[in-house]
Amino acid sequence: MRKKIGLIGGGNIGATLAHLILQRNLGDVVLVDIAEGVTQGKALDLYQAAAIDDLNGHIVGTQDYSALKGADAVVVTAGVPRKPGMSRDDLLQINSQIIKEIGQQIRQHCPKAFVVVVTNPLDAMVWLMQKSSGLPTHQVVGMAGILDSGRFRHFLAVALGVAVQDVKTFVLGGHGDNMVALPRHTTVAGIPLQTWIDQGKLSSQQLDDMIKRTQNGGAEIVNLMKTGSAYYAPASAALQMVEAYLFDEKRILPCAAFLNGEYGVKDIYAGVPVMIGAGGAEKVIELDLNAVEKQQFEASVSSVQKLVDDLKALGF
Ligand code: NAI
Ligand code: 2OP
Repeated sequence: MRKKIGLIGGGNIGATLAHLILQRNLGDVVLVDIAEGVTQGKALDLYQAAAIDDLNGHIVGTQDYSALKGADAVVVTAGVPRKPGMSRDDLLQINSQIIKEIGQQIRQHCPKAFVVVVTNPLDAMVWLMQKSSGLPTHQVVGMAGILDSGRFRHFLAVALGVAVQDVKTFVLGGHGDNMVALPRHTTVAGIPLQTWIDQGKLSSQQLDDMIKRTQNGGAEIVNLMKTGSAYYAPASAALQMVEAYLFDEKRILPCAAFLNGEYGVKDIYAGVPVMIGAGGAEKVIELDLNAVEKQQFEASVSSVQKLVDDLKALGF
């Protein structure tokens, strides 16, 4: 039976995801958005792209959440993206109401779906999605770490002059300015990054600059584009999570997962390596963090906790 993938939010990331899913023939797509006509228009456009590409997918564009009935996976990008000068946290108030309503719709129409939240501020929105949908915590995850790690990998690959596929790393913690890049857990062709530094292929200053650029990676693109934020890389990252679930890949990916004591954190979502397979977020992988890394991780998680506390104070 063909898989059904719901995309809530038919803007830049949602529509890019729809195109990728059709191109890869991963399943049928339901694109839901509040904006009248937009998803219907995009669905028609995508059908016509499929005709040209000799592909045979199905896509529905709608405002009606009941079309999500029986969806296997849902990616939530609905909300308002950052504008220049706006922090991810400024989006808290606007997007929390949207996420709460969508959580209730998911509970009603597709409570068995694996849900990937993309909407910012990410870690707080995924917490709210889990609460408002009432779905088990392993079924609700957030996309950020794959994107942030992808940015760091790109910068490292360019600096070292190597293929990006050979650069492996994890960027963890909250999807905010104090996200935690982990050079000690980074390898290039299986060789620890420190060895490349020791051999003079990369300076500590270059590494520090790349970490800062990664932390500022979203804002750099917002400032260049002026309207809207990054969407190609976020869509690819969310799709990697959906594929890991649909194909029971057991991939270990940096994602916002619910923490129940792992990394000394309880009852909130934050970016950690997590195994994704048919059971959703099946297992949090605990890396050995040294004192500095632990302190950075705790600082990042406390920024997330502050947002969750703000949400609670707002009555969510
Ligand atoms: P966009 O503005 O292109 O699309 C958002 C869509 O949501 C719009 O089509 C809008 O009509 C729709 N929408 C608004 N309220 C809705 C509601 N109540 N129900 C259904 N649809 C609704 O934005 P884009 O670029 O697709 O980004 C989406 C979100 O993803 C933003 O919050 C952005 O900050 C976030 N983001 C998160 C990243 C991450 O790493 N987690 C990376 C990049 C963006
Ligand atoms: C990004 O990192 C804005 O969170 C968004 O591109």
